[in-house]
Amino acid sequence: MNKKYKIAIAGCGYVGLTTGLGFANNGHQVTCIDINNKIIDKLNHGIIPFYEKGIDDLLLKCHEFIHFATNGTSYYKDSDIIFVAVNTPENMDGSADLQYLYNAVEQIACSIEHECLIVIKSTVPVGTTDKIRKKINMMIEKNLYKSASKNHIEVAFNPEFLSQGSAVHDILYPSRIIIGADTKWAKEILYNIYEPITCEKIIMDVKSAEMTKYAANCCLALKIAYINEIADLCEISGADIRCVKEGISSDPRIGNTYLNAGVGYGGSCFPKDTKALVQYSNENHFELKTIKAAVESNNMQIMSMYNKAVKKFHSLKEMKIAILGLTFKPETDDLKSAPSLKNIEKLLQEGVYLQVYDPIGMNNFKQNYANQFINKENIFYANSIDEALKDTDMCFIFTEWDCIKKFDIQKMHELMKQPVVFDGRNIFDPHRMKVEKIDYYCIGVK
Ligand code: UGA
Repeated sequence: MNKKYKIAIAGCGYVGLTTGLGFANNGHQVTCIDINNKIIDKLNHGIIPFYEKGIDDLLLKCHEFIHFATNGTSYYKDSDIIFVAVNTPENMDGSADLQYLYNAVEQIACSIEHECLIVIKSTVPVGTTDKIRKKINMMIEKNLYKSASKNHIEVAFNPEFLSQGSAVHDILYPSRIIIGADTKWAKEILYNIYEPITCEKIIMDVKSAEMTKYAANCCLALKIAYINEIADLCEISGADIRCVKEGISSDPRIGNTYLNAGVGYGGSCFPKDTKALVQYSNENHFELKTIKAAVESNNMQIMSMYNKAVKKFHSLKEMKIAILGLTFKPETDDLKSAPSLKNIEKLLQEGVYLQVYDPIGMNNFKQNYANQFINKENIFYANSIDEALKDTDMCFIFTEWDCIKKFDIQKMHELMKQPVVFDGRNIFDPHRMKVEKIDYYCIGVK
């Protein structure tokens, strides 16, 4: 029988919560802690504070093993393992803002009273876990702990590889688990806790694990930026990115994932992590040319659909435009760095009227993003794709939601005043669109 641990998790975002539910599902006693009362209040009423496919069912399934609290003191004190999964947002210069991480670590350090492994899950620059370890040791030396000084306290790093929209699947069936630990004791604890999960467990030192997290996200971002540039080149040369993708991905050395050309990557991770790694390199007097180029390329790519519309119409002023899809990808309500946002901002500046629709992200857009735009009064919130398309001069697609993919294109033509579609996710077949007499623009497709 696998040993059951008392686990505390600092941070109830999608990483902390999904991780906590994963451990609860394996029978560990978990408490998830967040300083935000509203989040904890919702969780205590069985409500997940964000949209993530399948997470409600997982909470229902293992609710006996998981608790939620705003004040972690007593839970940190009693835990065998404390995971820190607070967010590390972007500073103005692109570097990772570690203030929430250090606040959480300080609270943990002031609370623990017995043997305990602290595991950093937040994405952090290489060397941060070591700094945290030193900080905790310093607190022990200054005798700030009650009785912890005689006990074993260590800090390890264990990155997460959860994708929004498939986070529940990713926690239950991960591709691999990276254990970053510098002592046998820490390695064994982390290995034990993950033992029931059948996947490769790769054990390495803390710094390599920290670098692995950034290197993984940056590698995927690089692949996307690369295929987007090849798609642009396809347009110029008359080649078709769909054929090229098929042709290159049949080589197992290249693989077939993260090669969908589109309007650029967004989300809470790739944009932030690419910039943070570039900034980390700069601080260490090293120029990370490839990732710098990916960041630049992605910034251009995000405006590619808008640029195509301007090229066609010259002025967009007073035009009525449908926006289908707001979130940075399907199956999430997250709009962080979503390509839709920069396009909407630019379109509103031009004095257009927007009819926006997203099946899940509307509330998040309305409450947290729309107010920042000038001419925000020109946004109409549609209740359906039909309503968004009605009487429009053109349509932009920013997210490949199933309902958009499956939308009847004949109806699309009927509803729009001018059937012009700028598809940032290459959803439709250009030949079908031609047959339906829709003026269709996508990325790198003939
Ligand atoms: C990403 C990684 O995939 C996870 O492994 C990682 O754990 C996570 O970041 C994180 O660091 O927390 P996520 O941001 O949820 O996950 O989303 P992805 O599915 O990777 O997509 C990111 C962006 O790339 C989206 O905007 C998506 O539309 C875009 N993308 C993806 C493409 O444009 N083309 C593709 O072929 C694939």
